[in-house]
Amino acid sequence: MASILSRSSSKCLANIKNKSINLANQKNNVSSYTNVNNKRKILLATAGVVGAGTVGLIYSLHQSVKAMDIYCHPPDYPWPHYGFFKSFDHKAIRRGYEVYKQVCAACHSLRFVRYRELIGVSHTEDEARAEAEEIQVQDGPNEDGKMFMRPGKLSDAFPSPYPNEEAARAANNGAFPPDLSYIVLARHGYENYIFSLLTGYQETPAGLVIGEGQYFNPYFPGGAISMAQALYDEAVEYSDGTPPIASQLAKDVTTFLAWCAQPEHDKRKKLLIDSFIVLSTIGVALWYWKRHIGSSLKSRKILFRQSPSSSKPKN
Ligand code: HEC
Repeated sequence: MASILSRSSSKCLANIKNKSINLANQKNNVSSYTNVNNKRKILLATAGVVGAGTVGLIYSLHQSVKAMDIYCHPPDYPWPHYGFFKSFDHKAIRRGYEVYKQVCAACHSLRFVRYRELIGVSHTEDEARAEAEEIQVQDGPNEDGKMFMRPGKLSDAFPSPYPNEEAARAANNGAFPPDLSYIVLARHGYENYIFSLLTGYQETPAGLVIGEGQYFNPYFPGGAISMAQALYDEAVEYSDGTPPIASQLAKDVTTFLAWCAQPEHDKRKKLLIDSFIVLSTIGVALWYWKRHIGSSLKSRKILFRQSPSSSKPKN
């Protein structure tokens, strides 16, 4: 009996010892875990500080390089279509089209914009068809194998006034008038740059020599542009009677070009607003549902009680 007792008590002692060793081990584990955690935290914080510092340095260097440029950066204008809830000013697009047609189309193409795209944006279908029919497009070959000219259709793009790049350069002092379809997105400053460029022509400052056939414009990189000032007061007659002052023409044609570069602009913003409304409604419903379903789980209490049977001494 005594031997059994002593055996069981020594077993018990060994168990307790083991447990305490385990506990000690656990403690060690915990402390080494917190060590690792602290090291990681320090590493992450250092990486964050270094990363933020590098970004700040690059930004300030970029700003200082900007200040060294020898051309003006356009100011920010309050465009009516800038902003989350704002659409294009469609009357301005229509007037801008008139400016493009009467002035810019003499030198610039819009080869990624088709007449049919004007429908429902600035023109009715009949008006857009009439506009398209004013241009001549090369088509063919016909049954004699010859190319022929025909009036434009709704599916035709805005044509280039020159047959090829060389002809365009020859007519413009060696400079190529770029296609204006995406010009608003293709230039630093977007609409602000195009507006400033069109209204920014000035007398060449004393001491600055620019080439023949070039004009001084402080917004054009380098200052000397091969495009003469295109917009003057009353350069265009507006069909809606708006006073055609130069800055109005520039604003309208820039709005038109901004629409050309992103014709999906209004739809995109509307879709964003729609999805915001739908997703936030679903979000609120899900939040309520989660609170409803989760309320019994969140308010429950779990207690661990020693069962009376386990406290009874064995044997
Ligand atoms: C007589 C021909 C002619 C007319 C008219 C004309 N342009 Fe130009 N345009 C040019 C030429 C040539 C260039 C290239 C200039 C250069 O690279 O120095 C140019 C360049 C441009 C550029 C690009 C500038 C840049 O940053 O590279 C824009 C934008 C532009 N024109 C807009 C217009 C608009 C808008 C109109 C109508 C209001 C217009 N142009 C009318 C000939 C013309």
